[in-house]
Amino acid sequence: MAHRIAVVGSNMTDLVTSIVRMPAPGETLEAPSFFMGFGGKGANQAVAAARLGAEVMMVTKVGDDVFGQSTINNFRDNGIDIAHVGTVAGKSSGVAPIFVDEHGENSILIIKGANNELKPADIDAAAEDLKRCNLILMQLEVPLETVYYTIAFAHRHGIETILNPAPAAPNLDAKQVTKATFLVPNETELALLTAMPTGTDEEIEAAARSLIDKGIRTVIVTMGSRGARLVTAASSTLIEPLKVKPKDTTGAGDAFIGSFARYYVESGELEGSLKKAALYAGDSITRVGTQKSYATAEEFEAFVGRLDQ
Ligand code: RIB
Ligand code: NA
Repeated sequence: MAHRIAVVGSNMTDLVTSIVRMPAPGETLEAPSFFMGFGGKGANQAVAAARLGAEVMMVTKVGDDVFGQSTINNFRDNGIDIAHVGTVAGKSSGVAPIFVDEHGENSILIIKGANNELKPADIDAAAEDLKRCNLILMQLEVPLETVYYTIAFAHRHGIETILNPAPAAPNLDAKQVTKATFLVPNETELALLTAMPTGTDEEIEAAARSLIDKGIRTVIVTMGSRGARLVTAASSTLIEPLKVKPKDTTGAGDAFIGSFARYYVESGELEGSLKKAALYAGDSITRVGTQKSYATAEEFEAFVGRLDQ
């Protein structure tokens, strides 16, 4: 049986404006350019895994507007199973106004819209198909009760899970997520989850270890341009970043997680899969956009080939 990945998570339409600076309150300011793209942490991770050849199923909700329809088409174009993509009448789709400055730094607003309607009943409805998956990915752009429910469901059925606790949610209940196989926070999310400082490498490791002590098997802390740190009961390993000049870092974390999932589900190998994921994410930040900057398997192989020379 092919290895199957499910994403129980969000989709958004990214409304990306490049800016020189943010306008002050009451000020009108011209910005150089705008484009629209497909985004949302769940959909991004699904698309990264699918472009690299994984069999991916998406469990999500869109609104009954143009963004919803084009999001469904985008899933289909990327070969993603849409059997459990629902449309909510009278709700907007998720949208994300994103502002990218000249240094590739981004500020993001998210309007969850229909993503807020993804409920435990939808997990029940998808249960038989989810049971055929080897790995389930989640983030925090859908209701927390759905995330908790999915983790418990997967745990009962022996399915491995990745929880990316993003965006940072102050009311996330750490106890509810200890049954996730992998927790993949960034430094801010890790600090919030543990109420511990995460300013230095030592602090990051100590905070990650406190989660291991609570029962999470593996913590992978993403640290942007400093790479990622893999912490297990027995080890702590730095995953080196790719040194590149960033053009747009939006969705780099999602590229990392989606590609990690794709390689891990096939090989069962942690470190090797994380190293590939760091290259995949590094490559994505050299291009503008979120999903549209994610390489296909062929493009990524060619890119890795050039690095090896
Ligand atoms: O992680 C990046 C994503 O966050 C963007 O695509 C945006 O939609 C927000 O969900
Ligand atoms: Na990018």
